[in-house]
Amino acid sequence: MRETIAQLAAKLTESELGGGADRIAAQHKRCKLTARERLHILLDPGSFEEWDRFVEHRSTDFGLDQQHFLGDGVITGHGQINGRLVFVFSQDFTVMGGSLSEMHAQKICKIMDKAMEVGAPIIGLNDSGGARIQEGVVSLGGYAEVFKRNVLASGVIPQISVVMGPCAGGAVYSPAMTDFIFMVKDTSYMFVTGPEVVKTVTGEVVTAENLGGASIHTKESGVAHASYTNDYEALLQVRQLLKYLPQNNRDTLPSLPFSAASEETIPSLDKLIPENAQHPYDIKELIHKVADNGEFFEIHADWAENIIIGFCHINGQNVGIVANQPLVLAGCLDINASRKAARFVRFCDCFNIPIITFVDVPGFLPGVDQEKNGIIAHGSKLLFAYAEATVPKITLITRKAYGGAYDVMSSKHIRADVNYAWPTAEIAVMGSKGAVEIIFRKELEDADKIHQLTENYREKFANPYVAAKLGYIDEVILPRDTRRKLIRSLDMLRGKSLHNPWKKHDNIPL
Ligand code: HXC
Repeated sequence: MRETIAQLAAKLTESELGGGADRIAAQHKRCKLTARERLHILLDPGSFEEWDRFVEHRSTDFGLDQQHFLGDGVITGHGQINGRLVFVFSQDFTVMGGSLSEMHAQKICKIMDKAMEVGAPIIGLNDSGGARIQEGVVSLGGYAEVFKRNVLASGVIPQISVVMGPCAGGAVYSPAMTDFIFMVKDTSYMFVTGPEVVKTVTGEVVTAENLGGASIHTKESGVAHASYTNDYEALLQVRQLLKYLPQNNRDTLPSLPFSAASEETIPSLDKLIPENAQHPYDIKELIHKVADNGEFFEIHADWAENIIIGFCHINGQNVGIVANQPLVLAGCLDINASRKAARFVRFCDCFNIPIITFVDVPGFLPGVDQEKNGIIAHGSKLLFAYAEATVPKITLITRKAYGGAYDVMSSKHIRADVNYAWPTAEIAVMGSKGAVEIIFRKELEDADKIHQLTENYREKFANPYVAAKLGYIDEVILPRDTRRKLIRSLDMLRGKSLHNPWKKHDNIPL
């Protein structure tokens, strides 16, 4: 008995070592933690239950019969984050570059299947040279098995990817299909074809960092949702994010009971909107002021900054926030802002998270570039996402709500539940100046008259009362009362039950 126990202990020790001390040292030298160290930070202390520790690859080609590592380059299992169950896989770059073999894929698939069955989030820590080259098509099959599960799990359990090293070729499509991708600055990259292939095919010379580093994907492509300075910080932020997510699509986050004590007014909000309607202000000030403890977990903070998305709690209830940002492009909707917000709205809708929308939007961004690149299709994604969403939806227009953008930004007409406006709201087809220049084109020469007509138009339409008269706005509220109103509406909407017509699935303009 003692001998068999010692045998197990020896195997466990061996499996701890991954690809060996030298490769672990090399990993550390690059400022990267090992797969096990990462799990240690990610999960609550002592909660990790590892599966398939002794799995090995079955390949004998190209010298693989001589190379065996317990676990085959990925650590899998389940544990807890903030006391809640999660499933995890962590690729071990010290074992054949974390490359994905048949058995490596099988391990990942096993925990994905179990995460689906029990209804818990799955978190993947990616650090891999891609398909295990020696195994050929078998590893491609392995990837496809993972991809299939990403698709089936989408909208059922939250899926989070952290890219902490290489992620290249078709391998990128697994993280790409998950709900949130975090990257680590300077040590991670994602691309479909690497610098060498790019050089051969297009002649462009580019570094891996400039092709697919964290900065590219968080600021330019929008593929990744956030990047952090090191492994440690990225993993701690995953723990933070999890606080705002339910376990699955049938679960709701536990929320605190409605408490009148949290209804205090916020007088400083009465001064948020500048006297001059052309002047910008920071919509994040409003978000922080209405959120519990001023805490807002922003997603995609560095991409399409003209729209803000993220999570917060309001009186203990978890909500998704979408807000035009007047500080950037005057808060216009453009292609990227529409894509960013549409995917977020759909995420919230999948997972029963109420959506609060703060509107200050002068319209869609005009421009040849926008039209040529399909603002029509991309803008309609946001419209579609809001209209199909059946979760509680509360909208507040703080200032501008012009044109099609008024309709798109969770208007009453596309099934928002409660629509508020501040007295500073301007809800109209377009700004007064543009409107007068079109309606009174023949009189443009007469500057005084145009000025007078513009003032008339502004007086008639640049306010919330025309929309309020029609019932498009349920209530015009004082800015200072915003948090109180949101709390009461969220509380009223707890029991909301709305269903779309039966369909196999919709056909959102992708
Ligand atoms: C097998 C691999 C491997 C792979 C790396 N290794 N990638 N083994 N299959 N895909 C091994 C190396 O041989 C090496 O083993 C160890 O991992 C560390 O790799 P290094 O090259 O020393 O590390 P580094 O200099 O950091 O370079 C990392 C790298 C590079 C950029 C990822 O290894 C690389 O270019 N690898 C190949 C990438 C690739 O072409 N993959 C296939 C992509 S196509 P030793 O024993 O020396 O330590 C693909 C298709 C997916 O993935 C399709 C899905 C549909």
